[in-house]
Amino acid sequence: MPKSNTDMKGEKECTFLHSVKAMITLIKNGNVVTSDNEFTADVLIEDEKIVAVGKALNVPADKVIDASGKYVFPGFIDQHTHFDALCNSGDLDTAPYETSKTAVLGGTTTIVDYAPQDPGKGLLDSIDYRINVRAKNKACVDFALHSLITEVNDRMFDEIKELPKIGVASIKAFMAYKGSRLHVDDGTLVKVMAESKKAGVTTFVHAENAEIIDMLQQDCVKAGNTAPKYHAVSRPPMVETEAARRAVYLAEQMGAPTFIVHISTKGARDAVAEAKAKKLPVYGETCTQYLTTTKEKLSNPDFNEAAKYVCSPALRDEDDLEAMWEGIKDGTLSAIVSDHCGIDLATLKQVGRDNFVNIPNGAPGVGDRVPMIWTKGVVSGKISKQRFVEVCSALPAKINGIYPRKGTIAVGSDADVVIYDPNCASVIRLEDNPNGIDYNIYEGTKISGKVDTVLLRGKVVAEGGKFVGRLGDGKFIPSKAFALCFEK
Ligand code: URP
Ligand code: ZN
Ligand code: ZN
Repeated sequence: MPKSNTDMKGEKECTFLHSVKAMITLIKNGNVVTSDNEFTADVLIEDEKIVAVGKALNVPADKVIDASGKYVFPGFIDQHTHFDALCNSGDLDTAPYETSKTAVLGGTTTIVDYAPQDPGKGLLDSIDYRINVRAKNKACVDFALHSLITEVNDRMFDEIKELPKIGVASIKAFMAYKGSRLHVDDGTLVKVMAESKKAGVTTFVHAENAEIIDMLQQDCVKAGNTAPKYHAVSRPPMVETEAARRAVYLAEQMGAPTFIVHISTKGARDAVAEAKAKKLPVYGETCTQYLTTTKEKLSNPDFNEAAKYVCSPALRDEDDLEAMWEGIKDGTLSAIVSDHCGIDLATLKQVGRDNFVNIPNGAPGVGDRVPMIWTKGVVSGKISKQRFVEVCSALPAKINGIYPRKGTIAVGSDADVVIYDPNCASVIRLEDNPNGIDYNIYEGTKISGKVDTVLLRGKVVAEGGKFVGRLGDGKFIPSKAFALCFEK
C-alpha cells in the first residue's frame, strides 16, 4: 500500500492554517521495468515524488494514466550532452538549452551537461553561469553538470575542491585537440586526477592521442586529402586505444577514480576491462553512434551528408561496433550516451568544407538514444530490458551522484517516468522531434515502439508523442561527491 505522509484524499499536512492540495497522479497497470526487475504495477505520484508502487492502488487521483500493455521506465538519463558548449573550433553550439525538448520527446528526463570554463573565468563562475543564466527558465529537462577544463592555471586547480559544494562531482579533461584550449597535457591530467580524488570528484577523460592526430591530419592535408572521410583516417583506432591505456595507467598511479568517455574501439574497451579485472576505479561509456553507425557515412561524396557524421572519436567499422555491444552486455561499459552537440550544417559545419580538419566535431542525438537503443539493443536481442534501463538510467544516476533521486522507480524517487508503447512502429524524422538544428544522423531509421508519455517530477511533459511541457520546467539537480567510481 502507499507509503506516504499524505492521506489518500491528497490533502497534505501543512504548517499554514489551511491545507494545500497535492497533485495526485496514478499510472495504472503498466509493465514497470527497473535495472533489476520487471512487474505489472500501478505507480502513485504525489506532486513531484513517487509515493507508492504496487498492485491495484485504487486511490482518488487528479490524473489517471492507463499504461496497460506499455512499459513504465524510470526517466532516462543522458550523462554526456553539450547543450551549451564550446565545440572544438571555438564556436557556440547553435542549439542551446531551449532546444532540450528534443530530450523529453526521446524519453530523457535528465541530462548531465558539460559546463566548459568560459574564457577568463573559473570553473565555479562558469557553472554558476550555466545554472543561473544559460539554462534558467530555458531547460526542458532536469540537468546536472560536469565541469570542463579549457584554461589551465592555479585558480582552476584550486577550484576543483570547491566543485562538490556547488553540486558538481565530475570534471572533464581532453587529451585530444592539440593546439586548442580544450587540450590538456599529461602533467595537467595527473594533477587534475590528484586534486579531484581528494575532493570526491570523478575525472572524466576524452582519450585520444593529440600528437598523433595532429601528425596524421598534417599528412592528409599535405597530400591533398581534405574530404570528411579523412577525419577517420587521421583518427584511427590506435589513437584512442593508446590514450585510453595511458589514462588507465595514470589513473592507477594516482589511485584516481576515472571515467573514460565516448569509447569507440575494442582496444579502449579492453583497457577498461583489464583495469576492472585489477579492481582499479576505472569506468567507461560508449555512445549510440558507436553502437549503430559505421564510418562508411564519412565517405559520402556530398560534403554535407558526410560532415554530419564528423564527431570524435571518429566512427568505426562493424568489428568495433560489435565490441561496444559486448562491452555493454558484459558490464565493461557502464553507460550509453548521446554526446549530443548542436552543431548545425548550414553554418558551423561549413567551416570545414575545404579541409576536414576545420569541421567542428559533434552531432545531435539526445532525442534518439532511447528509441535507438531499445530497437537496436533490446528488440534485436543484444541486451535485456533490465540492462537497457541500467546503462541508460540507473548507472548514469549512480556515476553522477544523483541516485536514487533519479534512475529508478521507487518510493521517494523523483517522479520521472517514461511510458513506452512497444506495440507500434515509427520512423525517426527530424520534423517529429526537432532538435534545434538542421539534421538528424538517424533520419529514416525504423524504430520499434515509441515514447508515448513522459513525466518530469510528476508533471506530464510529453503526451501521445507530443511535447506539452514548457521552457524552464527543467531544474538543476546537484550531484553528490564520492559517487559510484569512488566505491570500493
Ligand atoms: O565530437 C565530439 N564528440 N564533440 C564534442 C566534444 C567531445 O569531445 O565530447
Ligand atoms: Zn570528448
Ligand atoms: Zn562530448
